[in-house]
Amino acid sequence: MSRLEQQTNPLLPESATVPQHIAIIMDGNGRWAKQRGKKRVVGHKSGVESVRATVTTAAKCGVKALTLFAFSSENWQRPASEVSVLMDLFMYVLTREVKRLHKNGIKFKVIGDVSKFSNKLQKMIQESEALTAENSGMVLSIAANYGGRWDITQAAKQLASKVETQAISADEITETMFHEQTSLASLPELDLLIRTGGDYRISNFLLWQAAYAELYFTEVLWPDFNETEFTKAITQFKQRERRFGKTSEQVTDKN
Ligand code: IPE
Ligand code: IPE
Ligand code: MG
Repeated sequence: MSRLEQQTNPLLPESATVPQHIAIIMDGNGRWAKQRGKKRVVGHKSGVESVRATVTTAAKCGVKALTLFAFSSENWQRPASEVSVLMDLFMYVLTREVKRLHKNGIKFKVIGDVSKFSNKLQKMIQESEALTAENSGMVLSIAANYGGRWDITQAAKQLASKVETQAISADEITETMFHEQTSLASLPELDLLIRTGGDYRISNFLLWQAAYAELYFTEVLWPDFNETEFTKAITQFKQRERRFGKTSEQVTDKN
């Protein structure tokens, strides 16, 4: 089935070319809860519904890869009680949602330094990845204990050890070889990076991968991010001119 045939979202124009790879910094859960006089964790719980809706919309639109920032390497600095709720929520979601993802042909991956998680959580991650490994639908990557600088560092380490064992020499290293060692290397290039919650920063997310991504920032807090909001981002992406260093004339010239 072609990408256009898959595109059944009524909110999108028929001819829209959807981004192949979208990543989202899901921010604003705490403020969403605070606005309602509730504890921050209530916002995190509500955010799960937005994750569900976003995965469904992305798959429906024919997006090939969706990467969601769930927990940054810096988020360990939050109060222990909040970190603990986030870990419990992660396990709950893995137990409840992965079967549904599998049924829908979605391939589930976790990126980040999972070695810092409890053994139980690591086992659940491994089982979820194994269950969905052969699926050929959209790839859903959850960034957990992820940091862009960590990713670049671990890629450098892998190349350094190849040099150490003399599998390659240092001056043979190319951008492509480096890229191959980073998380998400097997996926299409990142096309669109969305951040909800009104802040205009990357917060150590996909530093390497975002080199030529289109950036989309919205004030909408993550628990309020729904199909309509997601569609706005995709529609805006479609209207952007991606020049990749060329001139506008070069990229619009059809000949
Ligand atoms: C994003 O929401 C979720 C995580 C970082 C885990 P926040 O918890 O950062 O919500 P705000 O930014 O404080 O509103
Ligand atoms: C980024 O949000 C991390 C996630 C959404 C998981 P933060 O709320 O942690 O970002 P900063 O600290 O405000 O930059
Ligand atoms: Mg935040």
